[in-house]
Amino acid sequence: CGIVAYVGHRDACPIVLKGLKRLEYRGYDSAGIALMNGGLNVFKRKGKVSDLEEFIADKDVHGNIGMGHTRWATHGEPNDVNAHPHYSSSKNIAIIHNGIIENYASLKQLLIQKGHTFQSETDSEVFINLIEDIKQNSNCSLAEAVRLALHEVVGAYAIVVLSKEDQNQLIAARKGSPLVVGIGEGEYFLASDATPIIEYTNDVVYVNDYELVVIKNGELEIRTKEDVVQTPYVQRLEMALESIEKGGYPHFMLKEIFEQPRSILDSMRGRMIAESNHLMMGGIREFENKFVNADRILIVACGTSWHAGLVAEYLIEDLARIPVEVEYASEFRYRNPIISERDIVVAISQSGETADTLAALELAKSKGATIFGICNVVGSSIARATDAGAYTHAGPEIGVASTKAFTAQVTVLSLIAMIIGSKRGTLETTKLHQLMVELESIPAKVEKALELNDQIIKISEQYKDATNFLYLGRGYNFPVALEGALKLKEISYIHAEGYPAAEMKHGPIALIDEQMPVVVIATKDSSYEKIVSNIQEVKARKGKIIAVVTEGDTTIPAMADHVIEIPETSEHLVPLLSVIPLQLLSYHIAVMRGCNVDQPRNLAKSVTVE
Ligand code: G6P
Repeated sequence: CGIVAYVGHRDACPIVLKGLKRLEYRGYDSAGIALMNGGLNVFKRKGKVSDLEEFIADKDVHGNIGMGHTRWATHGEPNDVNAHPHYSSSKNIAIIHNGIIENYASLKQLLIQKGHTFQSETDSEVFINLIEDIKQNSNCSLAEAVRLALHEVVGAYAIVVLSKEDQNQLIAARKGSPLVVGIGEGEYFLASDATPIIEYTNDVVYVNDYELVVIKNGELEIRTKEDVVQTPYVQRLEMALESIEKGGYPHFMLKEIFEQPRSILDSMRGRMIAESNHLMMGGIREFENKFVNADRILIVACGTSWHAGLVAEYLIEDLARIPVEVEYASEFRYRNPIISERDIVVAISQSGETADTLAALELAKSKGATIFGICNVVGSSIARATDAGAYTHAGPEIGVASTKAFTAQVTVLSLIAMIIGSKRGTLETTKLHQLMVELESIPAKVEKALELNDQIIKISEQYKDATNFLYLGRGYNFPVALEGALKLKEISYIHAEGYPAAEMKHGPIALIDEQMPVVVIATKDSSYEKIVSNIQEVKARKGKIIAVVTEGDTTIPAMADHVIEIPETSEHLVPLLSVIPLQLLSYHIAVMRGCNVDQPRNLAKSVTVE
């Protein structure tokens, strides 16, 4: 979910609505706003922020304090009632909430016995009634009641609370869900991330877990749950507004696909210069010995970031000869994993906010492992929770389906594998130099791969009505097959599966008939001959073959229905190129099917609940 709030001298409503639109990638099944204007007025609607906008068009929405929410349902289906903000029973106070309150059922029971009434099925409504209950019973200020309530709730939250009785005050708090305060001149902005804030101010304070924010009569005060006053740490953000707008492209996703030559370059900039054999990464340098002597590297991530982790497994094991395990963060955290102090745990996350990944790294930390983070969002929760790390410099990624973040992650992971390999002496200097030269040439080769766009539009037209797709790859291209299938599923709602090509004969081969498009990533590498045989197996069963091959290949064109040629590169780096046509294929098919590419149904960009 996304939250935005404003306190200041301007009308809050337009600022909050615009902010909600910038946050819509975090969830968008319902939206709502509360405004203080003598009273405390709440307007909310199922659907997108634009539906809310229509709904309030003829209402009085003035007021200098306001808060808004765009929801991704956890408790209760998306409808008008379950949308935020939620009033307390007395309607004197209201809340917006991002996260999950795990003990909501028992709290609700208790509150019902005390006479509180509930309109919705949400845990958030329980939270606000709890605050009201404490306020009434302890006869304390609202801020104090919120602080005490934080001791009662178990789970994750970022909340904003407004009260009819105090028209000059806004209260917020966080635990586990992100919250940023923007500081303007005589005005304050609150949001789940900095994107809604930066057009007004670059000065921000990242709220920490268990902190309470009180903005009253123009003054900001932060205190801990234990009531200790904190000095706000104001950071200056360097983020250009145009980088979060579409820049002429019909969708953010397409813009982000086409940004990859730049974002890959930005992710290696300053870290590597092949000519002078310069290879350096700040975060690694500090922990170099730990990396060099690690028994094992464990990678935890979700979704596309998990696929980048799989590529890293091939890279690190091959170049640095350290055993690597790649885990879904959600499984890792609940299966009592064996972790020692000689393990390095690498958490990969575009948003830096994924709840499962964050919990997995906290668990590893508690067992003494060194935690390294690879995040795209600067200052995000995961970035702050790690011992060291490296940012990917992909810039803000808004499209829900991750594209440029993936290639940026793979770029950074390649550099890490090269650095550890060279320090450990498992990667000899000539080979290292060749790889550096090759990595430097990747942005230009991605540029070339993007020229395939028109060809891919034609292929998409032919297969847009398919109901199933199979993606096959071996070695470094196996994770790419998984990623290609995930992209198609996410945005076009076509069922797709990615498989190691050789594993096809143990199951998916049964699905192949003349209706089945099979995307085979078959670039010239050590498993080329083997994958050619796999293509023949598909062909023998009349599957339609869309092959991604290395430029100049003459064998596969004779067998495949469609051939997509990408520039030649080292097999270690091939995912950076082979994923490009697959991103474009899923994008065009989704557009042709009339799907909402940037905001696919049921998905959220940043999943801050488990
Ligand atoms: C969500 C997004 C995916 C993303 C995954 C992990 O499911 O829709 O695109 O890959 O979360 O996100 P992270 O921010 O941790 O990389």
